Amino acid sequence: MHFFWFSEKISIRKSFPEKMPLKKLSSLEKEHLQGKKVLLRVDFNVPLKEGKVMDATRIKKTLPTINYLLKNGSSVIIMTHIGRPKGRFVDDLSTAPIATELSKMINRPVIEANDCIGAEVSKLKQELKQGEILMLENTRFHTAEKENTRDFSRELAEHCDLFIQDAFASVHRGHASTVGVAHFLPSYAGLLVEREAEVLSEIMKNDEHPFVLVTGGAKIDTKIGVIRHFLKTADSILVGGGLANTFLYASGFEVGASLCEKNKTDLAQEILADSESMGGKLHIPIDTIVAKEISSNADFNNKQNDLIMEDDIMLDIGVVTQDYFLECIKNAKVIVWNGPMGLFEHDIFAQGTKRIARAIADSDAMTVIGGGDTIEAINRFNISEDSFTHVSTGGGAMIEFLEGKILPGLSVLKD
Ligand code: 3PG
Repeated sequence: MHFFWFSEKISIRKSFPEKMPLKKLSSLEKEHLQGKKVLLRVDFNVPLKEGKVMDATRIKKTLPTINYLLKNGSSVIIMTHIGRPKGRFVDDLSTAPIATELSKMINRPVIEANDCIGAEVSKLKQELKQGEILMLENTRFHTAEKENTRDFSRELAEHCDLFIQDAFASVHRGHASTVGVAHFLPSYAGLLVEREAEVLSEIMKNDEHPFVLVTGGAKIDTKIGVIRHFLKTADSILVGGGLANTFLYASGFEVGASLCEKNKTDLAQEILADSESMGGKLHIPIDTIVAKEISSNADFNNKQNDLIMEDDIMLDIGVVTQDYFLECIKNAKVIVWNGPMGLFEHDIFAQGTKRIARAIADSDAMTVIGGGDTIEAINRFNISEDSFTHVSTGGGAMIEFLEGKILPGLSVLKD
């Protein structure tokens, strides 16, 4: 088993098939938008607490599209999902606090609907005047949203002239509000989706090396596709977080009481074997910060893999691993980062994620980061988004885009 393998890099980069271009909002002339009612799908799936928006990043990133539409004489009907309410009304997942936040941000009233379909909403849509904004209620309060039924899609699209897709973080979902409505209206990519698709396509076409993927977080399932994909094209894949524990367990190490998907051992072993056959590109930690309890006051130690005890909890990558990961990052020309290295919410377990974040921010490489936890981490460490080439609003969507998957919410926008 090679945890750190400095072999000659095998270049088996394949060129990606040319994709059909998106139909873009920026290519629409003013006359296309003047006086039109635009149905705008955004991803305002933001953290909410006691009726307040806790992180408005996703809302802010959609403002250029909203302002563009208003400036060009449209009225805007905004729809989004929040959380996973399983088709029933959940007070804590209402769009009401978001409408309030958006109204403050753009300094204009935002009319709130109490549903996303139905007679009342239909009336509000019909009465909406040029320059006005209507925020629909959470689309996932209806099971028909995920089922992508024709009737529900038709009702969402009713009384609208155009559909603009700006929910990049949801384009991997084939739902009524991301895909179904596009069958009823002329459909275009919003400015955020345009930018995300452009930058991520650049990353996929990139031929600069070294290309480093940094990945972490809890679950192997969500990262497996991207790791497999980048084993072919990246030079190094640096793995931390709970994900690394599963690889360590699959390599025969004790992981104590740590987060670990033991039922994914076969999958992890397959990937380790693939990595071996490609020159050992996957790098998992050789040491770890461990504690006996998850608490900000816990005693913690830096341990090598073979010293982990049954009651140890692995909560961050160790210092030797951090140094090695930093060395890889320092030499990289392109870096993609998704997922923290440890439990960064506690300062004592944040060092690995912090050092990685800082090193990527300070790098001259093309840097793309994404995912809710990753963005939360840079905000926590006061690292400006401007320090990166691109900060993607997508977690799963960014990963699936980079895997080269066909994303239903983009496919419907193709010329
Ligand atoms: C996200 O936060 O990744 C998107 O809003 C998609 O949410 P979902 O995984 O619940 O579909």
